[in-house]
Amino acid sequence: MIIAVANQKGGVGKTTTALNVSSALAFMGKSTLLIDTDPQAHSTISCVKEPSLYDKSLYDVLVKNDENISNHIVSTTIPGLNIVISKISMAKLEPTLLGEIDGHYRLKDVIEPIRRKYDFIIIDTPPTLGIITLNALVAADAIIIPIQSSYLSLEGTDDLLETIDKVKKVANPNLHILGILITLHDKRTNISRDVVNKIKKVFGKKVFKTIISKSVKLEESPAYKESIFTYAPYSVGSIQYKQVAKEILKRAKN
Ligand SMILES: Nc1ncnc2c1ncn2[C@@H]1O[C@H](COP(=O)(O)OP(=O)(O)O)[C@@H](O)[C@H]1O
Ligand SMILES: [Mg+2]
Repeated sequence: MIIAVANQKGGVGKTTTALNVSSALAFMGKSTLLIDTDPQAHSTISCVKEPSLYDKSLYDVLVKNDENISNHIVSTTIPGLNIVISKISMAKLEPTLLGEIDGHYRLKDVIEPIRRKYDFIIIDTPPTLGIITLNALVAADAIIIPIQSSYLSLEGTDDLLETIDKVKKVANPNLHILGILITLHDKRTNISRDVVNKIKKVFGKKVFKTIISKSVKLEESPAYKESIFTYAPYSVGSIQYKQVAKEILKRAKN
């Protein structure tokens, strides 16, 4: 199953979720590939030992006909997890692909030959609804939408849902929301609790039962290029992301 982690808002936990969910799935024995599509390359930086050793990235795979994605799958510092890295050059993708007739289908096309090799392909996306995120939505079977449990966090989700509907109509009828993941939750504040209730009212059963708390360990682990499961195995973040991964496995079967 190909899962895009998307929300055009920045700082909502997309990269944290992409990294830790893919790590958890790999840990559970699922063959898992992470694809970093964000020009900021935070996923890449957080789990590849020396990204600068690689002179090519997803960008080259997407724009050059003679680059095979298989040659650009590299190992990460996280056990069992492979990645296709991003570089700042991904920022050039927007102007390059906009004029192309198959501009929205590039990622889907390059993933096609390898998709059966993996149980899960997780796509981390940039904080925009531009052509990179559209490529991810066209390529994906399902979407996870992280939403922060804070004031104004639902602002803008209508645009995302509209975009998902458009992609479904035009390019990818099977695309569906696998789940809404509430992130960065601070259960001490009233506003967090109110927002959780509002998110549940809007999205109902789509909301994952597991809520990800605000946790310093989750913030720290990428700096050491570790997933939460090795960095702080007994922390709440570790327990919660493992629970989310289990929910994902369950939902992926249905
Ligand atoms: N549950 C959490 N608890 C504490 N910090 C978090 C949590 N989730 C994400 N962060 C931190 O918040 C910032 C934004 O998260 P990130 O996953 O990079 O969001 P996005 O990819 O949506 O921009 C990062 O510094 C990250 O380490
Ligand atoms: Mg990110």
